[in-house]
Amino acid sequence: TTVELTVEELELAGHDHFMHKEIHEQPSSVERMLGGRLDDRFGSARLDGLRMELRELRGFRRVKVLGCGSAYYVGQLGATLIEDLARVPADAEPASEFRYRNPVIEPDTLYVAVSQSGETADTLFAVREIQRKGGRVVGLVNVVGSSIARQCDGGIYLHAGPEVSVASTKALTHMAVGFALLALALGRVHDLSHADGARILAGLQALPGQIAEILADEETIAEAGRRLADARSLFFIGRVRGYPVAREAAQKFKEITYRHAEAYPSSELKHGPLALIDADLPTVAVVPDDDLVERNLAAAHEIRARGGRLTVITHPGVDLGDLEADRITVPRNERELDPILLTIPTQLLAYHAARALGEDIDRPRNLAKSVTVE
Ligand code: G6P
Repeated sequence: TTVELTVEELELAGHDHFMHKEIHEQPSSVERMLGGRLDDRFGSARLDGLRMELRELRGFRRVKVLGCGSAYYVGQLGATLIEDLARVPADAEPASEFRYRNPVIEPDTLYVAVSQSGETADTLFAVREIQRKGGRVVGLVNVVGSSIARQCDGGIYLHAGPEVSVASTKALTHMAVGFALLALALGRVHDLSHADGARILAGLQALPGQIAEILADEETIAEAGRRLADARSLFFIGRVRGYPVAREAAQKFKEITYRHAEAYPSSELKHGPLALIDADLPTVAVVPDDDLVERNLAAAHEIRARGGRLTVITHPGVDLGDLEADRITVPRNERELDPILLTIPTQLLAYHAARALGEDIDRPRNLAKSVTVE
């Protein structure tokens, strides 16, 4: 007998959904992205696409990141990376807001537009507005030759390959890695030492293998995801570097499960949202093994004390003690790069919750892969 496969089935390569396929492509796609960009000799990143002299790069006193949706959340993570490694003030703003508020454009600010498709109208207009006022914009874009890629003054291509699933996964990971490369290059023309640069390079090199390690434990994450599927509403919490992780995780969860999911900084819980916690409102907490671990665990205990169910995404060294929780453990990298790995299980949490609910994972209702209209 012959088995007839549709084009779609062929493209899915044995996966049930493109989202699942794309999540599993990450170890090899990240490896490919890093190829040729790690400069061991100078402990820096080689970013010819920026089309910028080192002296020019050194001249920026501020970084402003612009993107929409998930690209904005990764932009927040990117801004943290840039402040961490380059000690240059950096922040992210939705491009959709920026373009409507008559922003002040400064000549010594490096503007970074981040977009998977390179066609998001709000981001493209933000780029044009900056340039019209004399600002310099580089792009972190996946689609080669796209409108934003062409409009920008230079950039870093993400090389994630085509992404079909409306809910983005691998492209976001590539954006985060792109920010790490940019932060490293900026850091090395500022005060980041050669040794610290080398430390980050080693961390970047370890990413593909560590992502594979996380994906190998998919069943643990899937179980936790299925247990979250019955909730009407959820919280995702994290602190400092963990907060953008929580924001993106909540976004992914609502896009494909249609459940209300909201992200809070862990420190903000006691300033309001704690009132909502009960047995029907589970929380996913991002708890890396860093200097904030005790505070993050204290927040988790507060939630348990109010009957809230918990899923904790954490590192091997973290002792949860008597905290009752579904535990997802990811390998440690360098603390600056840890958020990249902490995000990976949140992709699978959303995927498996949506799957348990029987939702159309690759084509969620009311959403488009790229929004090219205003
Ligand atoms: C749309 C999609 C989001 C995406 C955003 C930015 O709203 O539904 O998933 O994050 O656009 O897309 P971009 O292609 O610019 O990264």
